[in-house]
Amino acid sequence: MNDADHRPTASRVMRIFSARSCHFMMARSWNFFIVARILREIMSEAFLQSDLPFPVRRGKVRDVYDIGSHLLIVATDRISAFDVIMPNGIPDKGKILTALSCFWFEMFGHRVAHHLVASDPVYYPAELKPYADQLKGRSMLVHKAQVVPIECVARGYLAGSGWKEYQQTQSVCGNALPAGLQQCGKLPEPIFTPATKEESGHDINITYDQLLTRVSPSLAALLRQRTLTLYSLAADYAASHGVIIADTKFEFGHMPDGSLILIDEVLTPDSSRFWPADTYQPGHDQESFDKQYVRNWLESQPWNKTPPAPTLPDEVVQGTRQRYLQAYQRLTGRELNL
Ligand SMILES: Nc1ncnc2c1ncn2[C@@H]1O[C@H](COP(=O)(O)OP(=O)(O)OP(=O)(O)O)[C@@H](O)[C@H]1O
Ligand SMILES: [Mg+2]
Repeated sequence: MNDADHRPTASRVMRIFSARSCHFMMARSWNFFIVARILREIMSEAFLQSDLPFPVRRGKVRDVYDIGSHLLIVATDRISAFDVIMPNGIPDKGKILTALSCFWFEMFGHRVAHHLVASDPVYYPAELKPYADQLKGRSMLVHKAQVVPIECVARGYLAGSGWKEYQQTQSVCGNALPAGLQQCGKLPEPIFTPATKEESGHDINITYDQLLTRVSPSLAALLRQRTLTLYSLAADYAASHGVIIADTKFEFGHMPDGSLILIDEVLTPDSSRFWPADTYQPGHDQESFDKQYVRNWLESQPWNKTPPAPTLPDEVVQGTRQRYLQAYQRLTGRELNL
């Protein structure tokens, strides 16, 4: 190498300069992108209530509008735990729940009749057009159904109230189980553990015999069969995506022609226990992609589980949001475009 090679020629100077400035600019724009994203996440506000001029019934999480021929379900960012709505919400939660429900409705669509008609406001009736901003990404136009007032729970693992009941009775909602099962342990086979849908207060777990005092034998059998079929399909799919669906809750309703359809939200972190398969180990609580994280924080607070609930600190809000997003990403294999 001679000295000339060390002397910067005009073109080399230009090349070095442009490469450096390019790196610099790339680094700057990358940093800017990251900072903008973090700021957006921190500053983005939770959408706590929709406001449309139609008769509305507000649930803990959803605002359900009667728009005549159909219902419009708007998933807000409200979060409830122990049946109490928290004072602050989780930004984008309603969008994550809606996108995940729609994903499953699409997947199950050919196997089970369900209530989803459309989730893109472009296809909504004209009178909803002025509200597209509120509705985009967090709403579903659905068939109006006569709700069967039973929470149809399927459990593949022993957690929550199931684990508590098992320790006392070696059974869950009348399903006798073998001795020696562990907390969060896998059940020999999934079980159907219905609960009442109470207008106010906590839902109550019931046995199949108690279910038979509330609905006809044929409806009870259909609820059980659909619940277990849907759970098994979803659990198998989720397992191949690194997620354990420990349990989940479905709701069903009747159409005017008497047929039974799947309604409400399906297989979301609000209605299910989702555990990462790679860290699963029975014998203790699991890490989770659902609201167990919020429940755990609440349990550490001096709060008696009646309203008003304490405000969730920002760390818990962001931690919950990340967990819900992770559930969506793992299960669908996609990033959610928020
Ligand atoms: N297709 C449908 N037809 C009629 N009602 C429906 C339909 N889909 C869902 N729902 C009802 O809409 C409500 C959704 O709101 P949300 O999930 O916030 O309620 P919630 O707090 O769980 O209240 P609830 O205890 O009444 O279920 C539920 O009561 C559910 O039963
Ligand atoms: Mg609900």
